[in-house]
Amino acid sequence: MPRTLSVIKADIGGYVGHSAMHPEVLALGREQVERAVRDGLLIDGQAHACGDDLFLIMSHDQGQDSERVHHFAWDLFIAGTEVAKKLHLYGAGQDLLVDAFSGNIRGAGPGSAEVEYEERPSEPVIVFMGDKTSAGAFNLPFYKMFADPFNTAGLVIAESLHGGFAFEVHDVKEHKKIVLNCPEEIYDLLVFIGSPARYAVKRVVNRSTGEIAAVSSTDKLSLIAGRYVGKDDPAAVVRCQGTFPAVGEVLEPFTTAWIVEGFMRGSHYGPWMPTPVAQAHPSRFDGPPRIAALGFQLADGKLVGPRDMFDDPSFDNARAEANRVADHLRKHGPFEPHRLPLDEMEYTTMPAVAAKMKARWSEM
Ligand code: 13P
Ligand code: 13P
Ligand code: MG
Ligand code: MG
Repeated sequence: MPRTLSVIKADIGGYVGHSAMHPEVLALGREQVERAVRDGLLIDGQAHACGDDLFLIMSHDQGQDSERVHHFAWDLFIAGTEVAKKLHLYGAGQDLLVDAFSGNIRGAGPGSAEVEYEERPSEPVIVFMGDKTSAGAFNLPFYKMFADPFNTAGLVIAESLHGGFAFEVHDVKEHKKIVLNCPEEIYDLLVFIGSPARYAVKRVVNRSTGEIAAVSSTDKLSLIAGRYVGKDDPAAVVRCQGTFPAVGEVLEPFTTAWIVEGFMRGSHYGPWMPTPVAQAHPSRFDGPPRIAALGFQLADGKLVGPRDMFDDPSFDNARAEANRVADHLRKHGPFEPHRLPLDEMEYTTMPAVAAKMKARWSEM
């Protein structure tokens, strides 16, 4: 019987500012997930924080887009918002953009990444948790994992990967999707996913077996709200080994601190720093953006783990690189390319400032 691993996440209030999550909010998340396991809704579940975002990792047999599972997550976020309000945390309920749950978490603010799978005799998965960055940030690492033989040796030397992977790409503005096959359509794929503010990789599939290899959350808060309300802070789930890249191939892209959208006020480019969960508290200029990776073995749907995969000195160079890149970009202050380009600023201060100054512009 297919099982589902759902990661549903939201920022429901930060401690202090947007830097981290208060232990009481996380404790409530953990209690409620444990209760859902006892009540039989979930086979297993865990709650974790990356920065000020709460990530619910839920294993169940209700299928993807299950109203019951989504409703449970929504109610948990509402209850957590009450705790955040009581403690006067920053931005309590920040990502809850609708007044009431209406069947699915998508379009309501929280992000979701769900994989339906037939559990293999050994099923290693990695759950990635991002903070201070946008949906689409996984485009480049997914490309490296599933299409770049300089990253993933298995694409060349393992028969199970040699048939390549297909990328499902979402146009987040037009609400359309396309599937592109790698390796033969790599150049076409890159035209789109090289522009992650518009095109985000939703899913990656092994072409030989049809199995889902990876999923990321592509929900864009600013497009739902029509204004800046905080960053998407995406999640991703990646299956590893066998017909998928090995664990080390899945982590290898993060040995570079890729430049992503986010950082202060969600309006700057900054380096994506891989850290253990204990260091995923972006404080300097509300950053640099963070990425944490929790590894699990699934055993009859139970989450055996987590292992904190970036708690490893082999990512020290990426962390040092992130600090160097952050220092350099910060010197640009309000100038591009540290500040986001104009079309992305549409969702921050530009409309208000442009309206205020409208009458002051004259023909040259
Ligand atoms: P405030 O105006 O709420 O301080 O906004 C700054 C910020 O942190 C953006 O989310
Ligand atoms: P979050 O999206 O993590 O809440 O960050 C918002 C922000 O504006 C940071 O400066
Ligand atoms: Mg926040
Ligand atoms: Mg956040």
